[in-house]
Amino acid sequence: MSELRDSIHGQWSGRWAFILAATGSAVGLGNIWKFPYITGDNGGGAFVLVYLLCILLIGLPIMVAEVMLGRRGRRSPINTMYHLAKEEGRLPTWRLLGWMGVVAGFLILSYYAVVAGWALAYLSRAFGGGFEGITPDQAEGMFVGLISDPERLLAWHTIFMVMTMVIVARGVRGGLERAVRFLMPALLVLLLILLGYAMNTGYFAEGMRFMFQPDFHALLYRPDELGIMHFTWAPVMVALGHAFFTLSLGMGAIMIYGSYLPKQSSIVKTTGTIALMDTAVALLAGMAIFPIVFANGLEPGQGPGLIFQTLPLAFGAMPGGAIFATLFFLLLVFAAWSSAISLIEPLVAWLVERKGLTRTAAAVWSGLGAWLLGLVTIFSFNIWSSPEYQFFVRCADTEAGEECSGMTAFAVLDYLTANIMLPLGGLFIAIFAGWRMRRASSVDELGVGDGWLYRSWYLLLRYVAPLAVIIIFLNAIGVLAF
Ligand code: PHE
Repeated sequence: MSELRDSIHGQWSGRWAFILAATGSAVGLGNIWKFPYITGDNGGGAFVLVYLLCILLIGLPIMVAEVMLGRRGRRSPINTMYHLAKEEGRLPTWRLLGWMGVVAGFLILSYYAVVAGWALAYLSRAFGGGFEGITPDQAEGMFVGLISDPERLLAWHTIFMVMTMVIVARGVRGGLERAVRFLMPALLVLLLILLGYAMNTGYFAEGMRFMFQPDFHALLYRPDELGIMHFTWAPVMVALGHAFFTLSLGMGAIMIYGSYLPKQSSIVKTTGTIALMDTAVALLAGMAIFPIVFANGLEPGQGPGLIFQTLPLAFGAMPGGAIFATLFFLLLVFAAWSSAISLIEPLVAWLVERKGLTRTAAAVWSGLGAWLLGLVTIFSFNIWSSPEYQFFVRCADTEAGEECSGMTAFAVLDYLTANIMLPLGGLFIAIFAGWRMRRASSVDELGVGDGWLYRSWYLLLRYVAPLAVIIIFLNAIGVLAF
């Protein structure tokens, strides 16, 4: 039994406050910006299928474990892991798991704020009625114009980071909880309106086919520089990584929100609700966007600009579009906001616990750090976008001369955090909760008894989830690939 029953950082007012806050963390740019564009990049249906399987068989059991560890530890993830390890008679080095999460959250926030800045920029455009009658070329020009302008990106990035730090400084009850109460229902309504528009484009069926008809060849084969198709396991890794990213899993965000959860609330039920809402938002976003892509003859695999180059077309063409566009980007900003605060919360809580900083000081310092690192992402879209500033560059002789391409700093940060650090964090959470913690402890903390529910969770957590992560990792680094 843990001796500490309440977190020093406060507690949610009840189960629903936790559900809202955790959903606020989970639903964000990952659902509306990232999910559609990586689905487009990775061939559609088969990717969606693998992603859904990852959520169900890997994400969900690990999410229950992460909330459970948080509520049992009642501290920042670093100290929670330290204390739980001690309580269970394990090595104190388990706290490194908390550390990896803190680092991952910090790195993610650095680029997350930049993309949230795009949403802010689009909000100001929408408010000025700037999408009316816009053509695909103009929409592309608008997006390219934004990301190639470091000063504008910096301004919006700064505004978003300040917004985030203000809420974080105000703390759990004052800031986090209140910020998410009305957002989710409103966001759902707006997505439904967009969906209604998409249904009337005449390309709805094509969009649905793209998203839900699995084509494993499109998932697993990629052209190289010369256009020759090669087998690659990387998209499966992206689907796995995104399952973690979209559920805010594997870095302590859900763990620390769990630490503010009152003892009597049901972890399994609340976690299921959150995962369900998160998945619904992502699928709705995809179903709204792909018909618009096809109706305008656009490319689904165009990358991170996808929603910014397609949604303005829809808003520009529908009656009352300026109002809907303003509302939509407003909600997107809010969704990003409630996710961003959870990215930095583990670090802030640790600074308060260990370094004796006030919440405000902790928020300012960590925000400043992430803001600075954000410059790397900003520049990777403009002054550092050429191959000489890229990583893993590969060149090929084509008819047009030598062509080189690699990963920008932004792409590297995204890949490293979402596809490597989060699944790795999740793997260790599963190992700790499933293999290092006494079974009696998890039975006690989950409070659903020792029946079929507990047993299926335990089975997934101990065997299915860790093995799946390990197999996908090994395949991706080529150990099992022939
Ligand atoms: N889940 C958030 C999203 O989908 C991002 C996030 C990842 C937030 C990790 C917290 C921790 O946008």
